[in-house]
Amino acid sequence: MSNSRDLLIQKRHDSKLGGGQKRIDSQHAKGKLTARERLDILLDEGSFQEIGAFVTHRSSDFGMDKQKLLGDGVVTGYGNINGKLVYVFSQDFTVFGGSLSETHAEKICKIMDMALKNGAPLVGLNDSGGARIQEGVVSLGGYADIFYRNVQSSGVIPQISAIMGPCAGGAVYSPALTDFITMVENTSYMFVTGPNVVKTVTNEDVSSEDLGGASVHGTKSGVAHFTEPNEVVCLKNIRQLLSYMPSNCEENAPSIPYQKGNESREALAQIIPDNPNQPYDIKDVIQQVADEGSFFEVHKNFAENIVVGFARLAGRSIGIVANQPANLAGVLDVNSSQKGGRFVRFCDAFNIPLLVFEDVPGFLPGTDQEWNAIITNGAKLLYAFSEATVPRITVITRKAYGGAYDVMNSKHIGADLNFAWPTAEIAVMGAKGAAEIIFKREIDSADNKEVAWKEKEKEYSDLFANPYRAAERGFIDEVILPEETRDRLIKAFKMLENKVVNNPKKKHGNIPL
Ligand code: HXC
Repeated sequence: MSNSRDLLIQKRHDSKLGGGQKRIDSQHAKGKLTARERLDILLDEGSFQEIGAFVTHRSSDFGMDKQKLLGDGVVTGYGNINGKLVYVFSQDFTVFGGSLSETHAEKICKIMDMALKNGAPLVGLNDSGGARIQEGVVSLGGYADIFYRNVQSSGVIPQISAIMGPCAGGAVYSPALTDFITMVENTSYMFVTGPNVVKTVTNEDVSSEDLGGASVHGTKSGVAHFTEPNEVVCLKNIRQLLSYMPSNCEENAPSIPYQKGNESREALAQIIPDNPNQPYDIKDVIQQVADEGSFFEVHKNFAENIVVGFARLAGRSIGIVANQPANLAGVLDVNSSQKGGRFVRFCDAFNIPLLVFEDVPGFLPGTDQEWNAIITNGAKLLYAFSEATVPRITVITRKAYGGAYDVMNSKHIGADLNFAWPTAEIAVMGAKGAAEIIFKREIDSADNKEVAWKEKEKEYSDLFANPYRAAERGFIDEVILPEETRDRLIKAFKMLENKVVNNPKKKHGNIPL
């Protein structure tokens, strides 16, 4: 090399090439982008600033001293998303399969430390064969260094993980400790032990996709909050997701400029069916109430009996939790309680106000639910709402029965305002079941039991299947017409803007995990 300037240019070129053109071609042939191509899509154009491009590993076993590639399998640095600072790492599968060496881990840790100190989100793009097999225990130590930082950063800065290739063994636990996981369909998978080990231990034959592909984690396990058809959509969705969040827990939820107009939404008056047992889609309600096109659903295909996601109301980010009558009648069960609870905690950690739409017939009965700890899991949702200090408003659209009434952000557990539509039914249980229990003797002794039961059911229903008994008590602050909902909510969240609540001082609570 003729001079020092040329040397730098050559090294930059080498570093950018990662594992070489052949391996880049092989990555493309699998339908995957390279680590750098992904960052180009993720970040605002031209904003990426790399750190650690010349880092190499320190291993000499197995001839590794003769195979040193600049960057050591991960591209790290910072840049902007929607004009705001983020820290990023992007594993490079073309370098030793993106495997995690001691130095690879150090690069990630350096970025994580900076993200925490400077209060900006961390986005990790994972595509890795796991621990660098040639390095042994130092690689395991590297993972643990990352896990520790994930936990220290939890609740301080948003952390997002994209799975864009293999993610196996203990490597899964860094994404699992972050706030959101997004997976690419057909090219990514996550599991603690792969198909070969599964076959040996349990004698099950299962493919990587069926064991831990995006479809599995997006629907069955709930490990993935988002699954996307390809990498470009996946990366663009991370940009959108971040647009609803502040950079850290000290900042308010972001707000975008909003032109006030007529906030009445007549379509809301047509959504609730006349028959209280007929389902409707709560997302129709959400779409009408939120700013147009702003609803961004999280965990779309998992535990669909509860809907969670971000939206904007008059420009300000909010988190929405809603029972879904169109799925299992909107009942609360193990998975929906976990899903709702985790989302509530994220919103509360990052000062995102919570809006709840309630139409819940109760908790799902049955041995399956009891044996899978609906008690503990239902308590998670109850705990999450009860400890949340952000502005919290509930709108009861129809059913609010039993313990589920208490759990779904009732006034009693700290909600700021509860509205109900005239169609609301707030009671210990449905009229039919209630009549059967409390009027059993009268019904049994009647000449026509069927008629007697119907009469008693009507009596109970007239008394309780409405919002007014709860409103008399002040448990409901206002009964409102559906079309007034958006306007009332905009004004109510504005009124709650400076809310301050200090929970009792403690080291940390003990959420029923
Ligand atoms: C070192 C690795 C590697 C690893 C892959 N490579 N994984 N090098 N350590 N863990 C290298 C390969 O040697 C190959 O190098 C290149 O990366 C691409 O790998 P291929 O096998 O050709 O790619 P592909 O067919 O796509 O298969 C990808 C794969 C497979 C499924 C990830 O490579 C694989 O099974 N790797 C091992 C996975 C594993 O068991 N990891 C350890 C898990 S335990 P060349 O030079 O040929 O390009 C673990 C513990 C973590 O991670 C615990 C934390 C607490």
